[in-house]
Parts: sequence; C-alpha cells; structure tokens
Amino acid sequence: MGFQKPKSTQDFLPGNTENWQFVEETARDLCRRFRFREIRTPIFEATELFKRGVGETTDIVEKEMYTFLDRGNRSMTLRPEGTAGVVRAYVENKLYGEPDISKLYYIGPMFRYERAQAGRYRQFHQFGVEAIGSADPALDAEVIALGFAFYQELGLNGVTVELNSVGTPAVRAAFREKLLGFLVPIKDQLCNDCQARMERNPLRVLDCKTDQDKFTDAPSILDSLDEECNAHFTTVRECLEAMGIPYTINHRLVRGLDYYTHTAFEYKAQGIGAIDTIGGGGRYNGLVAEIGGNDQPGVGFGLGLERTLLLLKHQEVELDLGKRTDVYLVTIGDRAQNASAALLQQLRLNGVAAERDYLGRKTGLQFKAADRMGARFAAILGDDELDRGEISLKLLATGEQKTVAINKLSEAIHTFISTEEKGNNKS
Ligand code: HAM
Repeated sequence: MGFQKPKSTQDFLPGNTENWQFVEETARDLCRRFRFREIRTPIFEATELFKRGVGETTDIVEKEMYTFLDRGNRSMTLRPEGTAGVVRAYVENKLYGEPDISKLYYIGPMFRYERAQAGRYRQFHQFGVEAIGSADPALDAEVIALGFAFYQELGLNGVTVELNSVGTPAVRAAFREKLLGFLVPIKDQLCNDCQARMERNPLRVLDCKTDQDKFTDAPSILDSLDEECNAHFTTVRECLEAMGIPYTINHRLVRGLDYYTHTAFEYKAQGIGAIDTIGGGGRYNGLVAEIGGNDQPGVGFGLGLERTLLLLKHQEVELDLGKRTDVYLVTIGDRAQNASAALLQQLRLNGVAAERDYLGRKTGLQFKAADRMGARFAAILGDDELDRGEISLKLLATGEQKTVAINKLSEAIHTFISTEEKGNNKS
C-alpha cells in the first residue's frame, strides 16, 4: 500500500483549489477596502509563546498542540492559531512605534490535534484579522462588520453574529465566584467534561453542548460588568446597529482561548454536521503586555476557511470563478504540431489562457479535450494553413468559424472576448 495523507488533513485538488482562491480573493479584497494589510509570520513558533498567549489551561495548549524539539533542543509548536504569532511579530518589530494603529490580516494553515469530525481538521486554514493599538469600541464593531461582510459577499445565507462581553480579568474573577456558587450544588448532574472544567475554567462550563438545559438559571456575566465594561459593550452594540449588522446577545458565549477581554463574538451557521461555529474572535487588551510588549489593546477574529467552503457547498452557492481556458490549439499533422510551441508562447505572453495536446491525440479527441476544459475557442492549425500563415478560429459554443492571420491570433481572440463581454454587460 502506498502512502496516505495524515489523518484529518486534506488534499485540495484542481477543481477545488479554484474555490479556495475565490474565497481568499474575497478576503483580500475586503481587507483592501477596510484598510487591513497582510502580515505573514512563521508556521512554527516557540512553544512558550502559545502557552503564554493562548493560556496554559485551554484545551488547545493542554491537548491539541503539535509540539516538537528541534535539532537544537528547543521546544517548537506548529501554530494552533494566528493571534499569538501576530502579536509576537507586532512586539518584535516594534509596530507600536508607528503613528497609526496596526490593522493586520493573514490567511494560512493552523494545526490542532483534534478528534476528526465534519468541519474539524488537524490542519485547517483561517482568514484572520488583528487590529492592535486602540481600545475604541468602534474598532470591535469594524472587525465584526468585516467578518460579516466576508460571509455576505460570498453569498452565504443564514450567518448570524453572537455577541457577549467577558469583561476584564477583575470582573471575571468576581463572576467566577458567583458562577461557582451556582455550579457546585449541581455538580453531580453535570457531564464529566463539565466536572473536569469546573475548577479550572468554570466559565467554559456554560459553553457545554450537552448540559445547556441545566444552565437556565445560571447567573449572567452581563449582570456582573462594571461601568467601563458596560460602556464599551453599549458602544459596540450601537455601532453594529448603526451599520445594520444583525446580532444576538449570548451571555453564555465563552471562547476557547484565554486572552479575551470585553467583546467576544462568534459567527454561526447551520449545515456542517454538529458544528455551528464558523468563525470567532474578540478583544484582547492584556495580550500584548503578556507577550512582552507595551500594553497595547487589540481586537480580531479568525474565520475557518474549511467551514466556509463546506457551507458554500451545503448552500449550493455558485461561485463566479470566471477563469477558464480561452483557446485550445488543435493541430493536424507534424509540421503544425512543431509550430504549436511558439504559437502557444505568443498567445500566453499576450494574455490568452491557452492549452494544447501532449498525448498525441487525434483531431476528434483534441476537440473533446477542448470541451472538457471549457475552452471558448479551438484554434485549428494544419499544414495548409501553416503555409498560408493563417489559422482557423472556431467558437465552440456556436460552431462559427473564421480564418485569421497566425500573427494576429491573440488580437482576434481579445477582440472577440471584449465584444462578447460588452454584449453580456448590456443584457
Ligand atoms: P478559534 O475560535 O479557536 O479562534 O478559531 C477560529 C475559527 O477557526 C473557528 O471558528 C473555526 O472556524 C476554525 N477552526 C478552529 N479549529 C478548527 C479545526 N480543528 N478545524 C477546522 N476549523 C477550525 C482563534 O483561533 C483566534 N485566534 C481568533 C482570534 C483572532 N481572536 C482574536 N483574533
């Protein structure tokens, strides 16, 4: 038996990579309009960064990291998420010294050793943004709006925003006691996971899927917010309302990473098996200081791209992939075939997407290959045409055919495509 890909990873093949490119382009174009600029950081970082950044007692750090010793005996970890690395780069490159705040985005692979499930992989991809350097609640709303626009522009329906405030560490510490007062008496009724989580991270207990019915009377963190937290939360909500972003408040929303303060949010949608969270984020005001920098506030999100693509498929959204082969060069005879290398090169360098046969196929099968590729034209070259310096251009959709000079082939194709596109725009 040959080799197989690692469990819970995926190969993306042509036919599918076009969808990925489309989704990534949508993200990049939105970031351009929202003025977020791309940052690229290493796929692996010092293990300590994630312990400090994400939190020692989170599932990610306790159970899910791909950690290894490099040949110099340093403990390294494949990044399980993007925020810690971006904040590390922000500090290390002294971006806080710049006059403007840093609005950064990234698209790339993340790694978590998780149980295989629909929508859950061990290598997955995120589109993430991080805005560092301002505590303005309008920035939280801008980040939420950007993520929402991403799903809207892709044509997805039914994506909702859930919003909560997890307060400051002091607010959370007080709420923790209140919550334990509620949870301890019902401990025996809770699932094993909840019981295990209760001591270390009781807020996460509220997130449990199986025990929701037991939490109806649980205290809400929103009742424990202090004045500053309340004011921040109110402004975030007002901005979202002004922008027409629909959201619901979920006071039990707790994220799986420890760095959040104030705003926490998730994008939800149905259709990927048991999973309904497709993206999430929030504000992290203590993180930059924790990682060793000046105390700069930040806010961001990470959106799962596998989940986005699964949802697009589930909702049968037709992506406007646009690109296809313009012309397939059909050759008849050896001389024509020998001439095709130079002709293809000329076409391609002139902006035409062109292909030929490399399997010695007969004419009829070359036409079939042209159809399979969705070529608009077949350019047919035989020995006679070659002698006359001409080539036949056939529009495959209608069968219409005309003869053009070989050295004018790319112009002829461009002219045809642009008249056709003008026609389409009119209709
Ligand atoms: P997160 O909630 O851990 O947040 O992940 C964000 C998104 O990544 C999830 O909503 C999901 O779509 C996707 N995701 C996570 N794990 C997997 C997996 N195993 N397979 C497939 N998709 C997955 C973060 O990572 C934070 N860094 C987000 C953030 C940025 N907060 C502030 N800035």
